[in-house]
Amino acid sequence: MCGIIAYVGKQNSAPILLEGLKKLEYRGYDSAGISVCNRENIITVKSAGKVEELENKLGKRKISGTIGIAHTRWATHGKPNDINSHPHADCQENIHLVHNGIIENYQELKKFLQKKKHKFKSETDSEVLAHLIEEFGKNLGFKDAVLEALKMIRGTYGLAIISKKEQGKMLVARNGSPLVIGVGDGECVIASDVSALICHTDKVIYLEDGEVAEIDKDGYSITNIKNKKVNKEISKLTWNIEKSQKGGFPHFMLKEIFEQPEAIRNCLRGRIDKFLKDENFPVLGGLKPVEKKLRKINKIIIVACGTSYYSGLVGKYMFEEYAGISTEVEYASEFRYRKSVLCGRTAVIAISQSGETADTLAAIREAKSRGALTLGIVNVVGSSISRETDGGSYTLSGPEIGVASTKAFTSQITVLALWTMMFGRQRKMTFSATEKIAKELKKIPEMVEKIVKNNKDIKKIAKKYMTAENFLYMGRKYNYPIAMEGALKIKEISYIHAEGYPSGEMKHGPIALIDEDFPSIFICPKDSVYEKNISGIQEIKARGGKIIAVATEGDKNMKKIADDVIYIPKTLEMLTPMLAVVPLQMFAYYFGVLKGFNVDQPRNLAKSVTVE
Ligand code: M6R
Repeated sequence: MCGIIAYVGKQNSAPILLEGLKKLEYRGYDSAGISVCNRENIITVKSAGKVEELENKLGKRKISGTIGIAHTRWATHGKPNDINSHPHADCQENIHLVHNGIIENYQELKKFLQKKKHKFKSETDSEVLAHLIEEFGKNLGFKDAVLEALKMIRGTYGLAIISKKEQGKMLVARNGSPLVIGVGDGECVIASDVSALICHTDKVIYLEDGEVAEIDKDGYSITNIKNKKVNKEISKLTWNIEKSQKGGFPHFMLKEIFEQPEAIRNCLRGRIDKFLKDENFPVLGGLKPVEKKLRKINKIIIVACGTSYYSGLVGKYMFEEYAGISTEVEYASEFRYRKSVLCGRTAVIAISQSGETADTLAAIREAKSRGALTLGIVNVVGSSISRETDGGSYTLSGPEIGVASTKAFTSQITVLALWTMMFGRQRKMTFSATEKIAKELKKIPEMVEKIVKNNKDIKKIAKKYMTAENFLYMGRKYNYPIAMEGALKIKEISYIHAEGYPSGEMKHGPIALIDEDFPSIFICPKDSVYEKNISGIQEIKARGGKIIAVATEGDKNMKKIADDVIYIPKTLEMLTPMLAVVPLQMFAYYFGVLKGFNVDQPRNLAKSVTVE
């Protein structure tokens, strides 16, 4: 999704901005652009395509200037071409801005401005704002004009704005689209995402919705939209540059698959050891403030999107089986517009890697406004969802750069297992039942290590099925969500049609698809539904379908039934999703790589979906 990087300081801004744009590439985009204050002028260069193409366009032109803004665009209004790329300017080319988000009333505003003789160059909603500021700027200074313009906007924005008339100054504003100010020594780097600025500073200020910062070489001041001063704390980043780079792997996705044992260990660290000693609760600091309320809840609604939604489904099975709390899982995009039944005893849990997904954030706001207790399971520290929920836990899996979510998923399930122990202990779950989960959770990282070491065999299987154009993924009970997630992964990375199904549903339709060219991936560990799954596999075999099975180590029988078998270690049924998903992530990865696709930045996808 769109990315912003901006600089105010003493250094030449263009190289810093280009480097920042490259760091934002992982978010997915289709064009890029840059504007730099250069003496009396502002110079803008924009290009459809990759940042490399923007660099080529800039060529040997030495644009020097210590203030600049830059953007990677993911098209929403108008095609991805040079003109629609950001930065956008007003008629006189005094105001230049980059914008993340969507201005919902842009057509109305455009008509109003056209009547006042403003001429538009692009099809975007963002350009409207530059003209609106120009309009107010006829009677007001730069900041006041921006504030007035913002008051007229309906929608979401993360903005960085510069003006030819007040060079040396930048205004940045946020409403619904994340924006972080990195505070350095005599300089500020502003970005939509900390990964673009961690190489400059680890001191950051997270802007909240409705806040506007005025930045120049001497520092910054922050107000709300009514120009009332706001005091903000500086936070210290715990991520480092090394952590957000590839570390010897060919792709971020593979690196992140291999990082899962460490990510799960980080997620567990300090949270269960004390519990195992003093027979109480797992240590979950972020739930402390709401502990009493949690004891009273009798309904949980999990809201999330994509991969995070599937981890939520695993959570539902855990919460209901062990804590006895009725749990629903809903796509955040549905929840936000539906009138679901909420009350003071309902907890709404948002699960999100980025913590910025627009639909999930909106769902949480809706739940809050209707009196529900809101909780977050989030990876990015300081992100909007983590700040706006009443309590929650970080997944602590470190930066996830690959667009396809992998380590965030297994860490989300880790947190869900910890929360199951917590909710269970608050109700009727015995210490020994909880202890069993805790002890087994501690073994999971080693088990995942064993699976990822099997990468060569998984690659071979991917090669064998390279000509397949469709896949059916099936699993039951705890592994039904894994079938869905496996299918999503291969769709995203390999552009292959795949469907995920609960295996019991196979006979109610999907089996009609099966023939020798339509392989099925069956998640069939030795669990309470093993026999049921075996029957499903036999039914597919009887119709000439090929089977790749994910089975439990030692299940020799599976070798006789399935065409190919990937083994995973034995664990508790509720934790098998954390193991079963790993070979499916790797299968999708190798499939995509063998097809020659860009697995880290698949077409049409964005890492952080900050628009509806
Ligand atoms: O950051 P979030 O977890 O809220 O993101 C939700 C989805 O956009 C995300 O999981 C998406 O489906 C990924 N591309 C999956 O690999």
